[in-house]
Amino acid sequence: MQKIRILFVCLGNICRSPMAEFVMKDLIKKAGLAEYFEIASAATSSEELGNPVYPPARRKLAEHGLDCTGKTARQLTAADYRYYDLLVGMDASNLRNMQRLCGGDPHKKLSLLLDYTARPGSVADPWYTGDFEATWRDVNEGCAALLEQLKQTHPFLH
Ligand code: 4NP
Repeated sequence: MQKIRILFVCLGNICRSPMAEFVMKDLIKKAGLAEYFEIASAATSSEELGNPVYPPARRKLAEHGLDCTGKTARQLTAADYRYYDLLVGMDASNLRNMQRLCGGDPHKKLSLLLDYTARPGSVADPWYTGDFEATWRDVNEGCAALLEQLKQTHPFLH
């Protein structure tokens, strides 16, 4: 069976999108659905390439028992657009950069994480606020809503 491939995307790939990657991996594992998914994350910028998850983001994941060891930042490419089924950004600026790097969105694969929830908008950006708890809450709400939507559209996930 073809896996559902999801790529989470933010500016640096060291805070928000890795948090979404590891939260989503945990949600599907707890739901017994890990085998049906391939999940990863990437940056729109080249600023942090090769760097590990930012320590406060890593600590927030670890508080909840999630281990992001080994994840390093990488940049989104047009090949990712072809490979992944869904490319999920964190804010409107990400989405514009995703469209630029992917050469548009002819297959309607691009979306924003909180658009799957009842409160569309931006995932809280902890870069200047230092508020990783707000990011944790937004990412969890978004990933849970995304999984619910996928269950509705993919009956084999039941
Ligand atoms: P992220 O956070 O996009 O959530 O990974 C940021 C990381 C790096 C920068 C900005 C935001 N930066 O300006 O380098």
